[in-house]
Amino acid sequence: MVRFAIDPMLKKGEGSQFVEVGDVNEFNEQPRAITFKVHRKDGWYEPKEGETLTAWIRKSPNGEILALSPICKHLGCTVMWNGNPQFKDEYFCPCHFGRYDKDGVNIPGTPPPAPLDTYETKVENGKLYLGKIKPRSGV
Ligand code: FES
Repeated sequence: MVRFAIDPMLKKGEGSQFVEVGDVNEFNEQPRAITFKVHRKDGWYEPKEGETLTAWIRKSPNGEILALSPICKHLGCTVMWNGNPQFKDEYFCPCHFGRYDKDGVNIPGTPPPAPLDTYETKVENGKLYLGKIKPRSGV
């Protein structure tokens, strides 16, 4: 499912840095890609139409939300859940056959040197919000 949300508050240093991406009950154990737009200024560069970001989101049975960046930690290609029929229930990067498990942890022996980055998440009034992307360590 692709969703579009525009949040003018995601400018650097302004107000909340979280963007609503949907009702938390829409998510389950099956990772789902959500696409949304944010307005961001990077130095002099501030695209009028905003920047499109994607997150792979899943909710575990205990309600824990995991929102992963789709950017491969090898050389930055885009990963996809079940992107290769040979590797079921994994994230797959087609550029150099990078693979990650359901938690976004890189599979040993494949090119990615680290787990996928995660978005900060919060739930308020039944809505899921995504914040900044953060690298993971020690996973
Ligand atoms: S960029 Fe993903 S495996 Fe190389």
